[in-house]
Amino acid sequence: MSFDREQFDADKIKNATSLGKDEELQKLALELIEKSDKHYHAYQWTWLDLPIIQSTEDILAAQELVWKVKPDVIIETGIAWGGSIVFYASLLQLIGKGKIVGIDVALPQKNIDKIMSYPFSDRIELIQGSAVDQSIVDLAASHIKEGQTVMLMLDSNHTHEHVLKELEMYSHLVTKDSYIIVSDTIVEDIPTQEHRPRPWGPGDNPKTAVNAFLKGNDRFVLDEYYNNKILVTFDKGGYLRCVK
Ligand SMILES: C[S@@+](CC[C@H](N)C(=O)[O-])C[C@H]1O[C@@H](n2cnc3c(N)ncnc32)[C@H](O)[C@@H]1O
Repeated sequence: MSFDREQFDADKIKNATSLGKDEELQKLALELIEKSDKHYHAYQWTWLDLPIIQSTEDILAAQELVWKVKPDVIIETGIAWGGSIVFYASLLQLIGKGKIVGIDVALPQKNIDKIMSYPFSDRIELIQGSAVDQSIVDLAASHIKEGQTVMLMLDSNHTHEHVLKELEMYSHLVTKDSYIIVSDTIVEDIPTQEHRPRPWGPGDNPKTAVNAFLKGNDRFVLDEYYNNKILVTFDKGGYLRCVK
């Protein structure tokens, strides 16, 4: 191996493009997720001991983007146990700057205590309330100072209406060359998961919201490289780059 990083990265892009076009492989990946979800595979993992409800590839992809963007502020809707918020906070700690603002309608005190028990928890701001309540959006935005770089992670209620509202209410905060990651776009691509009844499903989910949001929007594009290279993912078509 020559360890020519430029060549390595160029090959990665080329291979990601062919991977994205490999329909048989994409179908296999969806099948794998659909079948493993019968065993709630997504609930198997923790980050620093807190359940993180993401696919392992999406966690890696998010890590790449956080390291690349080095945001001053990350806003995440949907905290649950706190694994993802602690994941982002731990990355910000490694970077040496930044804070994460997490929003959830349900924030039990025992979860707050655990999330705030890390040596880097001063990088975490928790807000209880609905992510689409204007006063909550304003509160989250109040943590952003003039000129700061902002990323957005949407992982709360996964209905079309809710995610579209979140995109409309928060996207103006996201800065050029940064990203929005919209979770669980996979709902559009697999049959209704009967074992976990939800108010969302095919035709009404984060992917349909992203598609509606991108229509006529000239600030955000689907990031081709990320949407191609992620394979065993919950978020295909959910990686949006801010281009202006
Ligand atoms: C999929 S979980 C979040 C998982 C977490 N991001 C992780 O990776 O571990 C979804 C969370 O969204 C929250 N939620 C549902 N509706 C919401 C709303 N309107 N505003 C904010 N949070 C909401 C739920 O309480 C739940 O904790």
